Amino acid sequence: MSLLSRHAVFERNSILLAVGILVVILIGGVVEIAPLFYLRSTIEKVEGMRPYTPLELVGRDVYVREGCYTCHSQMVRPLRDEVERYGHYSLAAESMYDHPFQWGSKRTGPDLARVGGKYSDEWHVTHLANPRSIVPQSIMPGYGFLAHNEIDAKKIANNMRTLRAVGVPYTDEQIKSAALDLKAQATPDSSDVADLQKRYPRAVARNFDGDAGHVTEMDALVAYLQMLGTLVDFKLYSDKADLR
Ligand code: HEC
Repeated sequence: MSLLSRHAVFERNSILLAVGILVVILIGGVVEIAPLFYLRSTIEKVEGMRPYTPLELVGRDVYVREGCYTCHSQMVRPLRDEVERYGHYSLAAESMYDHPFQWGSKRTGPDLARVGGKYSDEWHVTHLANPRSIVPQSIMPGYGFLAHNEIDAKKIANNMRTLRAVGVPYTDEQIKSAALDLKAQATPDSSDVADLQKRYPRAVARNFDGDAGHVTEMDALVAYLQMLGTLVDFKLYSDKADLR
């Protein structure tokens, strides 16, 4: 009996065919899913990634609240045109402390995953207040009001505790010093930033919004934008990632 004629048994009996299909799908499913149970993590650890500083965290919350993700993605795909425009493609580890992640699904404006350090703080403050003052055709809304919203530093520790509950490794010390760190990062002239940088390596402390007296949501949002894409040193990975 040839293989083909044996197959005729399945083709003539629909119940047997259904059972056969089920068995094949089952094998495929086990092969795909079973290995996941033996992995400790599906995210490869990458040097440099750390949880957000309190100020960056507030900035991230402003980003989510204002719906920046409706127009901006934070995910550089591993395609040549994207890598040439934005830089190294995004790694899973870069959003491991994001709850929820901000990959976005639409690019009305450019991707922001690597925007940190691309412009000055002043550029961001001017652009956020009135995007058309820099890009005349821009359809991005203005967010000047953020410069008038002072941050309530008392709330930030609770925010960090909540994130810890879902797996972000904030330490007790980081949570205890949240209000201090928040202030130190936005007012480095009058605070001690060494402790901040010990708790959060590569944290950049500056008077982001140019208004020294107050820690505002504008400080927080600019601190967040300036941090994006700067934590991982991609020179370490560039040989592997050269798509050109
Ligand atoms: C209605 C869509 C829209 C929304 C909402 C929006 N943007 Fe934009 N954004 C744009 C467009 C379009 C551009 C490109 C033109 C420009 O630079 O203004 C842009 C540009 C930018 C740039 C410059 C990026 C670069 O690489 O040149 C930054 C930074 C930025 N937006 C941040 C934000 C932040 C932060 C928010 C939320 C507070 C936000 N945007 C909300 C549409 C939007």
